[in-house]
Amino acid sequence: MTERIRPFLKWAGGKFKLCDWINSHLPSGPRLIEPFVGAAAVFLNTTFDRYLLNDCNPDLINLYQLLQEEGAPFIQYCRTFFTKKNNTEKRYYLLREQFNHTQNVSEKSALFLYLNRHCFNGLCRYNSSGHFNVPIGQYEKPYFPHDEMLAFHRKAQQAIFTCSDFSSVMREASQEDVIYCDPPYYPLDDSANFTRYHSYDFALDKQTLLAQLCVELQKQGVRSVISNHAIPQTRKLYKHAKKLVFCDVMRNISAKGLYRVPVKELLALY
Ligand SMILES: C[S@@+](CC[C@H](N)C(=O)[O-])C[C@H]1O[C@@H](n2cnc3c(N)ncnc32)[C@H](O)[C@@H]1O
Repeated sequence: MTERIRPFLKWAGGKFKLCDWINSHLPSGPRLIEPFVGAAAVFLNTTFDRYLLNDCNPDLINLYQLLQEEGAPFIQYCRTFFTKKNNTEKRYYLLREQFNHTQNVSEKSALFLYLNRHCFNGLCRYNSSGHFNVPIGQYEKPYFPHDEMLAFHRKAQQAIFTCSDFSSVMREASQEDVIYCDPPYYPLDDSANFTRYHSYDFALDKQTLLAQLCVELQKQGVRSVISNHAIPQTRKLYKHAKKLVFCDVMRNISAKGLYRVPVKELLALY
């Protein structure tokens, strides 16, 4: 078996540990579309000829496009921010400020990576003005993902990156395409406040729209797969799927408040 490629970003909901299981359920085809690409664990560990990779986060997509086009020189530039001098509270908040105000796409992208590796838990969250607002994490020597970025650059030559809403990307699919959807997780509690904890609101109506789109595409002969928590609400949401499959491993997930609950993972195959 070939070795798995790790994503170079830390990402909430990342599927690196689940990618073998997900791969084993993805249909084959010439092109994979990922409407919610995040840290791209599935892209990096599949062997489609071509990819259409989308996310609604423009900072993420700009970083991917620069890395795709520029490769090694851009990686070297990103490394210049990973210094001992920059690993202090004072410098972190200064560089976060710089990230929030710069108009230079290269600088903003390199700082996005710096923030991802220096902030609390690698979270990605913005305030209502669109400013990144995650506090500093406590890392003695944040890892610079040189090899992972190089691997991404190489594989990205097969990909096109877009930044739009998932629905418009999915509507572009043709019969030969395979779609893998990894939306923000369905809330473990249905409290109306839940989606506020996410940097991008992904309310229940969007979860419903995604399931409906997969049904529509299925009727047109397009095959898609959705990942989510295996909970009664998602089993109901994906009731029109051809098949639901479950991962045996239970993961401890934070629910509302401070408690953690064991939850299985589900794939809905349309
Ligand atoms: C669970 S993460 C994907 C994780 C990814 N599969 C991985 O392994 O790293 C969900 C992603 O959906 C993106 N997203 C949220 N709402 C979206 C929308 N309406 N359209 C497109 N992308 C969206 C988020 O920015 C986030 O990167």
